[in-house]
Amino acid sequence: MPNPIKLQEILGIDLPFLIAPMFLVSNTDMVIEAMKKGGAGCIPALNYRCVLELKKAIQELKKHKTPNGAFGINIIVNPSNLRYREQLKVCCEEGVDFIITSLGSPREVIVKARRAKIKVFCDVVHLDHALKAEKLGADALIAVNNKAGGHRGDLDPKTLIEELVNRTNLPVISAGGIGTKEDLDLVLSYGAAGASIGSPFIASVESKVSEAYKQACVSYGAEDIVMTKKISGTPCTVINTPYVQKVGVEESWIEKKLHQNKYLKKWIKLLRYLKGTQDVKSSAKKVTYKNVWVAGPSIAHTQRIEPVAKIIDRFIA
Ligand SMILES: Cc1cc2nc3c(=O)[nH]c(=O)nc-3n(C[C@H](O)[C@H](O)[C@H](O)COP(=O)(O)O)c2cc1C
Repeated sequence: MPNPIKLQEILGIDLPFLIAPMFLVSNTDMVIEAMKKGGAGCIPALNYRCVLELKKAIQELKKHKTPNGAFGINIIVNPSNLRYREQLKVCCEEGVDFIITSLGSPREVIVKARRAKIKVFCDVVHLDHALKAEKLGADALIAVNNKAGGHRGDLDPKTLIEELVNRTNLPVISAGGIGTKEDLDLVLSYGAAGASIGSPFIASVESKVSEAYKQACVSYGAEDIVMTKKISGTPCTVINTPYVQKVGVEESWIEKKLHQNKYLKKWIKLLRYLKGTQDVKSSAKKVTYKNVWVAGPSIAHTQRIEPVAKIIDRFIA
């Protein structure tokens, strides 16, 4: 029997979707705008250089929280995130409405967040991840499908939602490929409790990425999105800019060889991650020709740079 609880009831909000966490893109202004509209938003803890900055951001969000709004923090729970325990501690001490875990086991987050009465939603791409998260006590699943921006899954929205709805007892929040109200209605009709929407908000007035990145979301379309392994090793969706075309999207033979070495593997992975995120960071904020812009195919519906409130209206009109 599918879990009948909707995202609105889980978070006490009016809208059936939240603004997804996006590395370097999400910020407090975007989430505050979502809360004013009776919605929710989530920010990656990694968007802050230190936990003190994260703490200040949470305090600002608490100050602007509306009766029908909610906010969350996304924590990457794999070894690449060296500040994971401090980030979790600040979230629990300050109090946030929800935490989204990605790229690793949510065990510790669930245990500690539960004590602090914080809900935990876990990113999953397959049923086996979902069953593990359910066993550990997750409150909901974020079903990341093959249309998502960032580290996407490999199942289409319908297959993934239906499988998770039918084989788990948790509410399923669909992430990926929602650019219009019709897309949103469709995932809800498959049984999703709500949705997590990212790419359409990159070109928002409130996002602090470069104008060039926002304009790229306006002018490029779904057919311009490619998967690259150059950022973290895990395939990630980017806009196929001239720079991405020049450097290619596959690992070089030397990277592949080094990767097979059992002693060096860990360090090569870390080095590539640091170099890859550096490229993403400089192209998100500065003027450069080395543009590695993360985005998903739903940018096809981005026609102009607009305030968050207007983009939200697009999904509820
Ligand atoms: C620019 C960008 C950055 C992202 N960064 C993160 C991140 O830091 N953590 C995370 O869990 N997901 C991240 N994601 C994935 C989103 O949270 C969400 O799953 C995805 O945006 C949904 O697909 P959509 O872009 O088609 O709406 C990112 C996505 C984008 C587009």
